[in-house]
Amino acid sequence: MQGLFFEKYYFVTLSGNTIETMIVVSTQLEVKQLVLEWQAKGHNIGFVPTMGALHRGHLTLVERAIIENNKVVVSIFVNPTQFNDPKDLEKYPRTLEADLALLKPLGVDLVYTPTNNDIYPEPDTRVFDFKGLDKVMEGAHRPGHFNGVAQVVSRLFDIVMPTNAYFGEKDYQQLQIILEMNRQLGFSTNIVPCEIIREADGLAMSSRNMRLSAEHRIAAIEISRTLAASKTMAKNHTIQEVETYVVKTINAIPLLRVEYFTIANAITLQPITQWTNAPKTIGCIAVFAGDIRLIDNVIYN
Ligand code: PAF
Repeated sequence: MQGLFFEKYYFVTLSGNTIETMIVVSTQLEVKQLVLEWQAKGHNIGFVPTMGALHRGHLTLVERAIIENNKVVVSIFVNPTQFNDPKDLEKYPRTLEADLALLKPLGVDLVYTPTNNDIYPEPDTRVFDFKGLDKVMEGAHRPGHFNGVAQVVSRLFDIVMPTNAYFGEKDYQQLQIILEMNRQLGFSTNIVPCEIIREADGLAMSSRNMRLSAEHRIAAIEISRTLAASKTMAKNHTIQEVETYVVKTINAIPLLRVEYFTIANAITLQPITQWTNAPKTIGCIAVFAGDIRLIDNVIYN
């Protein structure tokens, strides 16, 4: 179709029709202005916060948001406050042009790509109390990580004012923390959990997968394979037996090293020792494939 871009918000065809196109802005002022306009028109707003390096997992969240909302906002921001390892922050993939090219055909209305200064005009000194949800598993191995996640997500919610916000269950602990943050801060946003999207061979999709060497990528298949096998095993083995099986099987692959595998109550996230200790049970794992840290999980009931 031939036409002209008018300002940065509209595409005007030569016959004069105006078609809204994907708007990309980097200040919270612009986001708030648009969101307020949309709210005044009675639109509901779906929001997918991301750190970029988008893959099919993210796009699935965006597609769902598009189906369930009148307007969809995606943020792309590599949040420094959630990285406890500066090297990890430095190496985190940044692929903005490719990300925008993936989002545009989906029908996203607005992409917010803030600078650090736009999100944190002053250092965020808030310390959240997540009642132990953040003290186990990822939280125990990445001190301060979830506090940083809560800082950025709460700021983004203040700016985007979403009706619905979409989060993947691969980051299961993050999802529970965001539910708690949302409750504590009294946001009216509905948090929508979305199931894990996997590669054809079972590896949970992650922006970190693109940094795996060919050998580590093959080895990493063992993570989801072992978790799936542990689900069958759980039917007639104790928690200790299942935990030992998972750790030994994955560590037997020379390129992989389990950092932790914990079977926990899926609501409180506290580790359990008997299957009957929790109404819903989850196994969460973190594995190093070389220096790339991968996480995954399995629900047992
Ligand atoms: O899951 C992520 O990508 C990030 O933790 C999030 C929620 C976008 C906050 O930076």
